[in-house]
Amino acid sequence: GTVVLAYSGGLDTSCILVWLKEQGYDVIAYLANIGQQEDFEAARQKAEALGAKKVFIEDLREEFVTAFIWMSVQANAIYEDRYLLGTSIARPCIAQRQVQIAKQEGAQFVSHGATGKGNDQIRFELTYYAIYPTVQIIAPWRIPEFYNRFKGRKDLMEYAQKNGIPVPVTPKAPWSMDANLMHISYESGILENPKNHAPSDLFMMTKNPQDSPNTPDMLEIEFSKGVPVKVTHLTEGKSVDTALQIFTYLNEIGGRHGVGRIDIVENRFIGMKSRGIYETPGGTILFHAHLDIETFTMDREVRKIKQGLGVKLSELLYNGFWYSPECEFVRHCITKSQENVEGKVQLSVFKGQVYILGRESPKSLYNEELVSMDIQGNYDPCDASGFIKINAVRLKEYNRLQSQADST
Ligand code: ARG
Ligand code: SIN
Repeated sequence: GTVVLAYSGGLDTSCILVWLKEQGYDVIAYLANIGQQEDFEAARQKAEALGAKKVFIEDLREEFVTAFIWMSVQANAIYEDRYLLGTSIARPCIAQRQVQIAKQEGAQFVSHGATGKGNDQIRFELTYYAIYPTVQIIAPWRIPEFYNRFKGRKDLMEYAQKNGIPVPVTPKAPWSMDANLMHISYESGILENPKNHAPSDLFMMTKNPQDSPNTPDMLEIEFSKGVPVKVTHLTEGKSVDTALQIFTYLNEIGGRHGVGRIDIVENRFIGMKSRGIYETPGGTILFHAHLDIETFTMDREVRKIKQGLGVKLSELLYNGFWYSPECEFVRHCITKSQENVEGKVQLSVFKGQVYILGRESPKSLYNEELVSMDIQGNYDPCDASGFIKINAVRLKEYNRLQSQADST
């Protein structure tokens, strides 16, 4: 049979490629460009040299930003109050293209290099099944013949040496990384002890705020339907207005000022806790800017319901259910909620922080006259007395009960 392998160009998936061939499969290598630093041409040559029948290198950056990152911005998606889901939303993006290729090439099988303990296996495979229900999945890290043979990096290196797989020359960092346009995540290795601090040279997208510039960068971000459509630098005058440029520029500014670093212990879907370190510079700027323009333009009660949906969406994304009926429903509602979320937010980025400075919008529900302490507006203060008294009815009743209990 033919298998489409999600190939990263690294040691693990190179060994998997050769191992799959050894098992008698024709292997199609598929490498998604979602903004990670990678020499894609070198990876293509490497996969070909290892005997891949075909190699697909797909530039999914635009789609990743507009379909996946923008949805998480609109939703203010955040897992367990801290993680902006950079890896979680990349998985369905990668996997949907992988099964498209499998269908188009008439391949019955797909394969990936995620471990048997993590979230990624779930996210990849739920996407595979949702889009290609009859597909057969080969997950080597869950196959005893594979994981008993490759117990550690040493076994992979030996196998690579024997099979003409180029062995990495630079020593591997003592942790595992997952990088894309939105973030880099670091976990396992020396980070598994949750007490160990991250070494200062770990971060690759962001500067340490200690070494960041002593003057802020001031930006204006313009939103339409809850997504950024233009970013302007308020002092340098530079402006960008395509999705990819916007996100890349915010990464650059956020990165320069050390924005979006977190170190957390999180709950994996599979049931264990894991320690992760993340840097999400552009995503963190957008998170704050979007929250601001949203609250400015959205009805209070709609906002409350929408906030609950955002929590639900975050869990669905984390757990791998992008392609599911409930996620389609929630995404539809979130899109609807963003119809009037437009306007401009001005902010400054400085020493690891995002400071909101001001906002304006043609769709604002803010009424300066109504809220003013100096103008009456269309509002009668006497009405507030009744409003407060009615709200106090049950408080008085509760007090009556309490005093009864105290006196017995
Ligand atoms: N814990 C994060 C998540 O589940 C990041 C996973 C990182 N993945 C990786 N292959 N290193 O979304
Ligand atoms: C992996 O297990 O492959 C990475 C970590 C995760 O998916 O949670």
